[in-house]
Amino acid sequence: MLGFAMAAAHGADLTGNWLAATPNGDGTSRKLWFHVKQEGDRITGTIRAGQSVYTISNSEGGPERYTLTGTVLDEGRERRATFEMIVSGDTVSFAPVRNGAAGVPIPAHRVPDSDGALPPRVTPPALHQVPDNGLARTPPMGWNSWNKFHTRVSDEIVRGVADAIASNGMRDAGYVYITIDDTWEGERDANGVLHSNNKFPDMKALADYVHRKGLKLGIYSGPGPTTCEGYEASGGHEEQDAKTFAAWGIDYLKYDWCGARMLHREAEEQAVYQIMGDALAASGRKIVFSLCQYGRDEVWKWGPKVGGNLWRTTGDISDRWESMDRIGFSQNDLAPYAGPGHWNDPDMLEVGNGGMTDTEYRTHFSLWSMLAAPLIAGNDVREMTPAIREILLNRDVIAIDQDKLGKQAARAWKSGEQEIWTRPLANGDTAVALFNRGKDAASITVHWSELGMNKPPSRARDLWLHQEVKLAGARYTSEVPSHGVVLLRVRH
Ligand code: GLA
Repeated sequence: MLGFAMAAAHGADLTGNWLAATPNGDGTSRKLWFHVKQEGDRITGTIRAGQSVYTISNSEGGPERYTLTGTVLDEGRERRATFEMIVSGDTVSFAPVRNGAAGVPIPAHRVPDSDGALPPRVTPPALHQVPDNGLARTPPMGWNSWNKFHTRVSDEIVRGVADAIASNGMRDAGYVYITIDDTWEGERDANGVLHSNNKFPDMKALADYVHRKGLKLGIYSGPGPTTCEGYEASGGHEEQDAKTFAAWGIDYLKYDWCGARMLHREAEEQAVYQIMGDALAASGRKIVFSLCQYGRDEVWKWGPKVGGNLWRTTGDISDRWESMDRIGFSQNDLAPYAGPGHWNDPDMLEVGNGGMTDTEYRTHFSLWSMLAAPLIAGNDVREMTPAIREILLNRDVIAIDQDKLGKQAARAWKSGEQEIWTRPLANGDTAVALFNRGKDAASITVHWSELGMNKPPSRARDLWLHQEVKLAGARYTSEVPSHGVVLLRVRH
């Protein structure tokens, strides 16, 4: 009797594995697991949230409201997460705490101990060279759902985008890879086969639809147990997923590290990416392999070895001049690593998403083309202003990006916020870009000799004005608007 009364005074024993799930609206849910042990008013155990498993290092309060703080070491850096555990009668819920304020409580229920456990850590394989798949001889061009639609992407949107791209001139200009980014994923079935969620009722039918339009379909996954948005990823199921993708008719895979950090260190990235590189090579279908690990571990040095056709060189771009400018102008040292079949990827285009001026978008598009970057549109191509359409469809600029020589531009000159970048082209021409990163208009002078040309070019074409430029002697001067560009194709 005494024992029972004491237990009652402390509430029910909370020891167990609690799952707090928030529906995503597509048949899947965002899950948090609290695997806890209660001793008196002290709670210990682990919290799996996002891409981390935190160890509960501190519990305060009780018996009706505990504040649990978890910590995790990520590449030597400690990160923390705090949740309130709210106990009311028989119900338990958890509320994330940010900046000292608790969010909306998420009801939880007990699940078996194995639920939410990480898959066993597989020792990454020995390194070898994955054979070149022969794809992406020029930088991939297409469209990706993330920048504009984030988690709202759906079958209907992808079909609408495919319709638009097939009919508005984009396909014929080279934009062929239509890629569905994160949040298409459903659950695995009893055989481990991955299915799409309710937003994508039939992936094979969607691929057929896209193919009938003369386009290709791309998809997104990652080497961890989950993606950045917490959806099912391919870790431990690489061969099976590569076969599923191939059976659906997928032509391009963006493979995002995110959740893999729960199992692997940065130094293991090459070996972990190689697993999917091998799986794609064995899938029976030619699939472009796009590595997305934000340019860590000097990926440009090993990307081609794991079968990568492109690799992100930076963190995520956002639709602001500062973000584009910082990413785009920091790519100079990577020029030697780009070439046919394997490209540096400074992230997808923001052209047309509304956060920059048309002048800034012209600079963005010019810079990416100079960099031989993948041209992956990230806007709603179903509705574009004429100015945005003109940028994305500028064939002369696209020809710079897609030049067969595949040599990425390098910075040739810089003075304050004005820069000149050059790129040699297959027919012997040179692309010359005069960039003004400053807040005011500026006059920029090209001294041809400083670009390594022993005599002035015979002619030059302005690729935005679509006209020949008047040349006179050893230099050429142009007024360049703030955040603007003058892009020339120069003939020797
Ligand atoms: C990461 C990638 C983005 C996008 C999101 C999706 O942040 O870098 O490009 O794919 O994940 O969750």
